[in-house]
Order: sequence, then structure tokens, then C-alpha cells
Amino acid sequence: MPWPIASPAAEGCTKFRLGIGRPVPIWAPPLEGTAATMTALPTNLSGLDLRAEIDRLRKERNAVILAHYYQKPEIQDLADYIGDSLELSRKAAASDADVIAFCGVKFMAETAKILSPQKTVILPDVNAGCSLEDACPPEKFKAFREAHPDHIALTYINCSTEVKALSDIIVTSSSAETILQQIPADQKIIFGPDRHLGGYLNRKFGRDMLLWPGVCIVHEAFSETELLKLKGQHPGAPVAAHPECPPNIVDHADYVGSTSGILQFAKTMTGDTLIVATEPHIIHQMQLAMPEKTFIGAPGADGNCNCNICPYMALNTLEKLYLALRDLTPQIHIEEGLRVQAKKSLDRMLEMASGTVGKGDLGRA
Ligand code: 13P
Ligand code: SF4
Repeated sequence: MPWPIASPAAEGCTKFRLGIGRPVPIWAPPLEGTAATMTALPTNLSGLDLRAEIDRLRKERNAVILAHYYQKPEIQDLADYIGDSLELSRKAAASDADVIAFCGVKFMAETAKILSPQKTVILPDVNAGCSLEDACPPEKFKAFREAHPDHIALTYINCSTEVKALSDIIVTSSSAETILQQIPADQKIIFGPDRHLGGYLNRKFGRDMLLWPGVCIVHEAFSETELLKLKGQHPGAPVAAHPECPPNIVDHADYVGSTSGILQFAKTMTGDTLIVATEPHIIHQMQLAMPEKTFIGAPGADGNCNCNICPYMALNTLEKLYLALRDLTPQIHIEEGLRVQAKKSLDRMLEMASGTVGKGDLGRA
């Protein structure tokens, strides 16, 4: 039985179709396997108080629950820490828990395992991938690197462990500016897999990095026409955008930064209404911290489409988190040689980003 999932596909969006247990963009090839190969969720969870059970298991297992801002509110509300990719990497590296339950996507859970190999790292749904990771197969990235031997590879954390192992320095959206500014201007750079983040950095810092052609399907779905209509309806309301947005969205932004940077901007802005051009689940933290302000998610092409809900993040549910804590599966395993190689580029990020203290880079394109 397919899992019931809240996703753009489930809500009639034409940009996605349901795959085997995960929503996939319509341009992606069909996933292999059949419904028979999927693990169906047990149906006997209905009488359980899931929040209480998760709490009990968290204590019993000495587990820490890390959640990204794009998780559903009910997951954010019970997490021990909520953060952006950089903050969650730091938490994973520093935590003294035995188990890390990572409520995010696979590359985030893998990052936790790379940094803390002695810990058990679980991800509620192993199909929680990322379109940027999918857009950058390691063998193609390796060939691209070999074709440009005088370039270093500065790579966005939204990629596979294999691609991290092929990279020199990892960045997140909140550390990219700080790190890029430490690299000499004449050093040639390959930047992947997000061409919009790379393009934004090129424009802002006058760099000429070679860009890998990946995109985030979520941020790609915002509509400039609809955004301009919304701005017209809320004159004076600033726009905060994630740098994964294409330039025609970023160009209308008053603030560009990571999820934590956007949250920080919402706290410090002078007005009382903000238009938010990133995955809309982050608005939950804004509403909790600033109930007196109004936060409006930027629209997709048809004005009310849910295309900008991340279909991968949405795969995680309370039920799956409970089962993952109970059974310690799905678990992240990484071959040791690969892990050690991938850790080098992540350690460089953590060293070079040490001045980025839990907030996004403030600025605009
Ligand atoms: P942040 O590091 O800004 O949280 O971004 C993660 C991500 O996946 C954005 O799409
Ligand atoms: Fe990947 Fe985009 Fe989802 Fe972030 S929002 S996890 S970049 S698909």
C-alpha cells in the first residue's frame, strides 16, 4: 500500500507525479521497483500517543532529534534542535547522544554520519532525497573535475557523500559567502550542484565560477509574475528569498540568505508583513516567534499551487519518526574510506565557516 503523503503530487500539482513511495518531478525517469517491493507502514499505530512514545524512546535511546526548518510543524515542535544545514551539521558533530534522529533529507543525515561515525543516525524516510543531489551523479562530477584540473571544487552541501568526497570545500547557504571570500580571487573554481546559488555568488562577488547545472525543484517553482502581483497587494512589504531561487526571484528580494538568515531578517525587519520566497514550512517558526507579524509564502505559477512545498522533506512523518526510533531503521551506513574522504571537505567548511555564528550572511545580490 503506498504511503499517504502530503506532497504537491497529492495536492493536484501538475509538476510532480507519485513515484514508488516518493514524489518525483515529471521530467524524472520512472523509479525502479514495484509497489510489492515497498515497505508499507504498519497499520497498528492508531491507538498510540505518538508524541509521548517518541519522547519515551528519545530518553531510552539517548537520542537527539534534529529537524530542518522545512519539516512539518508537528516534527519541528518536538525536535531538540531546529536549524539550517550548517547549524544542524554543527549540532551533529558536537552532540553526545548515542542516536541522531535526523528529520530532514538524506544528504543531511549522511553529513551527520560522516561527522559522527560512532553514532547511530536514523532518517524517518530513506526516500527523502533532494533534486540537487539527483542532478549531480558522482561519475559525471568526477569527469567534470578531471576536465578542469586547475579548478578547485567548492560544493554545496546538498549533494551525495560521493560528491563530497570528490570536492575540496563544502559550503551551505549560510556559510558560502564567508568561505568564498577566503579563496583568492584568481583561484579557478567549479561550483556545484546548484547553479542558482553559484550564480548569485558570482554576481555578488564578481567571481567567474564554473557552474554545475543543478536546480532545486522547490525554489525553481516560484513565479515572478505572481510575486509581483503579491508585492502590489502588499505595498512596502519586503521580500526575503533563499539563494536557491532563480535570479528573476532574487532580483526582487530585499534580503537573500539561508533559512536561518531569513528567520533572523524576519525578527529584525521594521515592517509587520514579510513575503517569504523559500519552502513555506519555515513560516511556522516565524509565527511562533512573532505572532503579531504577517508572513506570506511567495506563490507558484498558478497562484495557489503548493509546488514550493519540498516533496522530499514532506515524506517524514511522526509515524515514521516513531518507527525509526523504535526499530533504529532506516539507518545511515557509509563505507569508511568514503566517509574519511568526504569528511575532509566538510571539516574545511566547519573551519572556514567558524566566523558564521548561527545566522545567514546578510546582504542581497
Ligand atoms: P539551508 O541551509 O538554508 O537551511 O538550506 C537547506 C536547503 O535544502 C534549502 O533548500
Ligand atoms: Fe533539496 Fe530543494 Fe528540498 Fe532543499 S528544498 S531539500 S534543495 S529539493
